[in-house]
Amino acid sequence: MRHIASLSLLVALAASSLTAQSIQYVESRKIWLLTTRDSTYAMGVDPEGTLQHLYWGAPLWRADDVPAAAVRRELSSFDPPAMLQREEFPAWGGTRYYEPALKVTRADGNRDVVLRYVSHQMRESSLDITLKDIRDDIQVVLHYRVYPDHGILERSATIRNETAQPLMVESAQSATWNLPAGEGYQLTYLTGRWAAETQVNHEAIHQGMKVLESRKGHTSHNINPWFAIDAGDAGEEHGSVWFGALAWSGNWRITVEQTPYQQVRVTGGLNTFDFAYPLKPGEALDTPAFYAGYSAQGFGAASRLLHRFEREEIAPGGLSSRVRPVLYNSWEATTFNVNEAGQKVLATTAAKLGVELFVMDDGWFGQRKDDHAGLGDWYVNPEKFPHSLKPLIDKVHALGMDFGLWVEPEMVNPDSDLYRKHPDWVLSFPGRPRSEQRNQLVLNLARPDVRDYVLGFLDKLLSENDIAFLKWDYNRNWTEPGWDQLPASEQKRVYVEFTRNLYAILAELRHRHPKVEFESCSGGGGRVDLGILRYVDEVWPSDNTDPFDRLTQQDGFTYAYTPQIMMAWVTDSPHWLNKRSTSLSYRMLSSMQGSLGIGANIANWSPEEFALAKRLISEYRQVQTTIVQGDLYRLISPRNGSEFSVTQTVNPEKTQSVVFAFIHSTQQGRLFPRLKLKGLDPVAEYALSPIVGKPRTGTPPVASGAWWMNHGLDLDDGFRGDFQGAAFRLDKQ
Ligand code: DGJ
Repeated sequence: MRHIASLSLLVALAASSLTAQSIQYVESRKIWLLTTRDSTYAMGVDPEGTLQHLYWGAPLWRADDVPAAAVRRELSSFDPPAMLQREEFPAWGGTRYYEPALKVTRADGNRDVVLRYVSHQMRESSLDITLKDIRDDIQVVLHYRVYPDHGILERSATIRNETAQPLMVESAQSATWNLPAGEGYQLTYLTGRWAAETQVNHEAIHQGMKVLESRKGHTSHNINPWFAIDAGDAGEEHGSVWFGALAWSGNWRITVEQTPYQQVRVTGGLNTFDFAYPLKPGEALDTPAFYAGYSAQGFGAASRLLHRFEREEIAPGGLSSRVRPVLYNSWEATTFNVNEAGQKVLATTAAKLGVELFVMDDGWFGQRKDDHAGLGDWYVNPEKFPHSLKPLIDKVHALGMDFGLWVEPEMVNPDSDLYRKHPDWVLSFPGRPRSEQRNQLVLNLARPDVRDYVLGFLDKLLSENDIAFLKWDYNRNWTEPGWDQLPASEQKRVYVEFTRNLYAILAELRHRHPKVEFESCSGGGGRVDLGILRYVDEVWPSDNTDPFDRLTQQDGFTYAYTPQIMMAWVTDSPHWLNKRSTSLSYRMLSSMQGSLGIGANIANWSPEEFALAKRLISEYRQVQTTIVQGDLYRLISPRNGSEFSVTQTVNPEKTQSVVFAFIHSTQQGRLFPRLKLKGLDPVAEYALSPIVGKPRTGTPPVASGAWWMNHGLDLDDGFRGDFQGAAFRLDKQ
């Protein structure tokens, strides 16, 4: 026993000292070790020059343990060596039959590409490995970046045409991730639809291929570009979990493939469906970043790695990104019927609640009375706002709040001046129908003139008005994605250029207006991924604001994304979607698990409701940093018809913790389960204070972290019923 303890200590010490040198190269065996505090990833060049994957798992400290990459012998004429090896970035060519990371057609029709190692360049935390086809100068530079302190590895690829003839790239993936040899793996992924995003799926991986993808032009509500794989034995706080998230907001694809040779491979990048990217001699194509990590402590720890990474490395503000202001949004209260007087009334009431940011949603521009007209005409509607936006913005400022505004820049209604002037600006195929969704069409943002128009009107809007926040919406999928101004062979570039221009516009707006913050919304959670998260401060996870449904959606959301970006409004009851009635207290607590917003018609609230919301907003602000930036523990999942659900967060200093507990429907008088808290300092003393609800009589008001974690917290025996919520904070004494 003592031997095991000292061995694990040695490994831990060695692993921590390795993080100083996160990339190691052993020249004699041509192997690289990429090490973070949680994982090591190893690869090497075999004697034929193929770059092979060698290891991905818990940290290694002894590079000498990793054998050089070897060339396998064929098992039979049907099972060639290339299929038995775990190639780091396989092109389609030679004897490879699995999902390739690269597929290219040359101008003369030749489609065989076999990649071999050429050279590499190592920096402190990044590594570029250049591969080249065995005959032609088709080059691939594999980019690796290690985030040693975050436990995350980033991969992407640059495909270069250094030949003298044009190439057509038909598959350009960011990475192939190879799992350790074995079978019995399980896949976890997030699916959904409008108003039901981020539902957790967990299933066995069998031989064959599972495709996670979007063909809808944006990230989509249906599947999110995130995966986790475990060896069949992981739980919330135990077991090995390999996970990854793709940073792309256009058509994306992740395949999870189990071959007959005990290999599970995850390949992801630009969707190959309808894809063809031409590369003239000298041109290159960069693939999106694909981030991945490994946790030995289950799904909870995997999520916590991603949460911290997103806040500190992906979010535009990085380490200095502030917790989100408590906002009010007008949409559910007024829909399109916004005007100066009505918005001023809402703003006055919101300010009294303690709201910090007042956001006016859809309806303020063009001839926008409903969703049939106006998109594209970004002038202030003179009937609704006779003196433009200034009087409302001044009022909001005078009330001590910032002002935010809704826009949907990539869209146009056929009933708009913009469309009448530029009918050629939309995605479409000549002579074919233009399918409308929500009475709107998609502007072809890939076109430079459309990109300039969108950047221009947004820049003007932000220059002329004191706006602190833009909610950037996107309310339909792509259809008929034609770009007929280009030669036929170039038209499919739309899949890459559209998304690149979206990112470029956001980057430029942030550069020109550094104080403005952004929310990514796409009819709810249709555009949530690590690509857009580099440019926005928060996302709108769903149009479904039902507080009970949100528990399940939020549970799934936090598998991949930090609660800091998870905007959650408190809206009216009965809920418009489910007709479910819930108390304001329950609705508030459900939303307080993320970044809190109010979206109800607050003008109709009773004095008691108003007082409760005001108190809870104030309590929320005292513990908000712990909730959205602390370590999240999903103590009881609301999924699978659970009667109960509980989340707990602990700040990094372990001085504060917040617990949220919910009952769906008490059955047979069952008491709430005892909550064994997590992540506290066992030797520190914590005082328990209720935010809503009571602990069981006799619960010590102050107890050690060891007590709260090993004995646990019992809630009051009267905590029963339907749609009940309670919340507590623990503060170190
Ligand atoms: C869809 C968004 O998800 C809603 O919050 C709201 O902004 C509407 N669009 C406005 O049209």
